[in-house]
Amino acid sequence: MSERLRIPAVPRDHDELLATMEGYRTNDARWREGRCFSLVYFAGEAHERLLQRAHEKFFMENALNPMAFQSLKRMEAEVVQMTASMLHGPPGAVGTMTSGGTESLLMAVKAYRERARAKWPWIRTPEIVAPATIHVAVDKAAHYFGMRLRHARVNADGTVDVAAMRRLINRNTVMLAASAPQYPHGVLDPIGEIGALAEEKGLPLHVDACIGGFMLPWVERLGYPIAPFDFRVPGVTSISADLHKYGLAAKGASTVIYRDMSYLRHQFFAATDWPGGIYISPSALGTRPGGTIAAAWAAMMGLGEEGYLHHTRLAMEATTRMIAGVRAIEGLAVVGTPAGSIFAYRSVDRAVDLYAVADLMAARGWHIDRQQKPPTIHCTVTSQHLDHADAYVADLRACVAHVRSHPELRASGNAAMYGMMAKVPVRAFIKQSVLKVMETMYGPAGSNNDPMQSQNDGPVMAFVNRHADTVMGVLDRLESLRDRVSGGDR
Ligand SMILES: Cc1ncc(COP(=O)(O)O)c(C=O)c1O
Repeated sequence: MSERLRIPAVPRDHDELLATMEGYRTNDARWREGRCFSLVYFAGEAHERLLQRAHEKFFMENALNPMAFQSLKRMEAEVVQMTASMLHGPPGAVGTMTSGGTESLLMAVKAYRERARAKWPWIRTPEIVAPATIHVAVDKAAHYFGMRLRHARVNADGTVDVAAMRRLINRNTVMLAASAPQYPHGVLDPIGEIGALAEEKGLPLHVDACIGGFMLPWVERLGYPIAPFDFRVPGVTSISADLHKYGLAAKGASTVIYRDMSYLRHQFFAATDWPGGIYISPSALGTRPGGTIAAAWAAMMGLGEEGYLHHTRLAMEATTRMIAGVRAIEGLAVVGTPAGSIFAYRSVDRAVDLYAVADLMAARGWHIDRQQKPPTIHCTVTSQHLDHADAYVADLRACVAHVRSHPELRASGNAAMYGMMAKVPVRAFIKQSVLKVMETMYGPAGSNNDPMQSQNDGPVMAFVNRHADTVMGVLDRLESLRDRVSGGDR
């Protein structure tokens, strides 16, 4: 084992440090070249500079104590107000900023659990009902807060079966959740119908618009047909919308907005007996970075409606072009009807293994987001991608043709591994394997290697690689059998 790194005994030269960090970037996703989807939302260099300047101005400050930094409290309040207006919140709408989509979802789930404790104290394990496509941060929240998440089945076009949601509601249900749109395929859940169900059952409904909150309003304003998904839907009691996605702010910023204080108050935490003093906290974090709040405020003010509409127009143009390109490639199909600038495609031809296509696209420098159930490739498209949409489609066309003429690719490398991981019916086995990967990543050596590659080199993959065709054939058959039995839900 190599020697463990220590803090250098003496300060190192600042320029040298910056050069070292630059060197660390070598294998990073090439997002500046428009080759990365969903991790970075770039609105041009002038906007990037504004975010940096705003961030820098407040980057030492701490929003933990809003009295000490009233500037940050004011900016947070203004960000929340602007977001609530954009989402058609009623006059009493309130909310907080958080560090990201996951924290916003954690906070909404926590608020509804606390509310349920006050309203329905007899419930022992509170339950959430949501589509199978709801973001995993809701699973995480249920896991953290001792709740149970019941997943409703989703149709092949990515829409949730609302009747299935209805059937899953029982006397332990404390909230419903749905997405606008869901991340995997960019399809908008029928919020109107789910809102009506929530009202009928007397349950709160959280709309996860983490990814769509700062996109769908502008898509709608541009004249695309978008079904109501925000506070205009009567049953919607809260919405999460991320600033660090289509809000085009710096990383570490999201919002969670409630219809009124009767919900938000369950999000707060107060400890009154701590020797350190009376401690109150609006969300999960203790120390809250000032820079992200300032950059979010600057992003909204600096872009204005005009800026958001401009970027959304370009993103929709890129999406339309990419979707048309994918549809024109024989053997591929776009999943359902994407609501905005997010979509996914799958293979509809056995001769085209999508994970093998993904490997080839990755080899051409695209950062590919592989999904499962069924295998799909995800694209979160932004204005930046307009200049790269045609190149993407051309590469995709070439990769599909190559895979078609090289069927052996499905049984090698990452394609075999992802294929197997998506299909193995004993999910506990997969969970155990990926947790093992994390132990490698976060072990004492802090591996820098591709963690999935280490999975690839493990004994299970050695077996799969040796018997790949047989293994994949058996898994294919098992999968189609399971689909026939279950009707294809998760
Ligand atoms: C719909 C949706 N919800 C929640 C999240 C989680 O957001 P974050 O990664 O900022 O925690 C995402 C992230 O992509 C998302 O798309």
